[in-house]
Amino acid sequence: QASDPDLVARALAAKEALGERVFVLGHHYQRDEVIQFADVTGDSFKLARDAAARPEAEFIVFCGVHFMAESADILTGPGQQVVLPDLAAGCSMADMARLPQVEAAWQAMADAGLQDVVVPVTYMNSSADIKAFCGRNGGVVCTSSNAEVALEWAFEQRGPDTKVLFLPDQHLGRNTAVLKMGYTLDDCVVWNPHLPGGGVSVEALREAKVILWKGHCSVHGRFSTKVVDELRATLPDVQILVHPECPHDVVLSADLVGSTEFIIKTIEAAPPGSVWAIGTELNLVQRLARAHPDKTIVFLDKNVCYCSTMNRIDLPHFVWAMESLVAGVVVNRIEVDPATERDALVALQRMLDLPG
Ligand code: 13P
Ligand code: SF4
Repeated sequence: QASDPDLVARALAAKEALGERVFVLGHHYQRDEVIQFADVTGDSFKLARDAAARPEAEFIVFCGVHFMAESADILTGPGQQVVLPDLAAGCSMADMARLPQVEAAWQAMADAGLQDVVVPVTYMNSSADIKAFCGRNGGVVCTSSNAEVALEWAFEQRGPDTKVLFLPDQHLGRNTAVLKMGYTLDDCVVWNPHLPGGGVSVEALREAKVILWKGHCSVHGRFSTKVVDELRATLPDVQILVHPECPHDVVLSADLVGSTEFIIKTIEAAPPGSVWAIGTELNLVQRLARAHPDKTIVFLDKNVCYCSTMNRIDLPHFVWAMESLVAGVVVNRIEVDPATERDALVALQRMLDLPG
């Protein structure tokens, strides 16, 4: 991906003109042409903390997707404005849990007599109103870096009968509960918002410990054990490293699982000559392969594409957003309404206060 030199020069000039007034955050899945301008890069947990740590920046330009920019707006001060360079940079997983659907599920759980035992936990990859729902109902936000600690916290909230409603990524919820915390697949049920009663019987709901929302990532959900088996046959020394948004059987067949920060640290610490197949977003895998020419790094499945919404943030959009700020025009501002912000902040703050 060679960047257009004229656009690179314009991006640099806009950054220089804005100086300390702007702080650019870049998620690890961003394109090279954009991430080169980030003041900090990170996974969604690190970026949420970093956004909150720059109160002097008037503008936060978020190179990532919509739910991340919303979280940055919630965590930053009233004088700070968050900009998402392309408003079409959403997340298909976040869109799989809508507030009316979640409220209907919550009511069904109350009708089953579970109102005092279910704690909602939402993955960061959810809209601000779902985070606010969790804040209002004694729940918490988690990311792929802290899902286990967040679930442990949740299971302590309502005594021994506690159940968790995990939104919206069934895979992260299942992988964390079963592979990290000792729950079994039988302890989990999947709530399908498109079926009456979620497609779960009241008995099954009462028996379950973990109620998983039927959502998934359209990128990580495509990796399969078939490619893992093929790679192990062709590259006998390969170590398979995957993100916990991958399906349970893929994570089971891998050697290591963790968030994007974990994946990066693992590769940085790996010895020269080691061989890796990585199951996460392609921009990050390609960057790791280029940064570590002494190691063999391949993408887990060449048929899986970039995250199309992460890739919406390209250099022309970035330059447009930055030059608009230089001209005194705030374009594509992401602003969460005050009531949603208040409740979502409760759930986000509970996450930031978790140990570790
Ligand atoms: P994190 O590892 O940052 O949680 O990234 C996962 C992801 O899919 C972000 O959209
Ligand atoms: Fe959403 Fe998956 Fe893209 Fe992340 S990689 S923004 S979870 S679709």
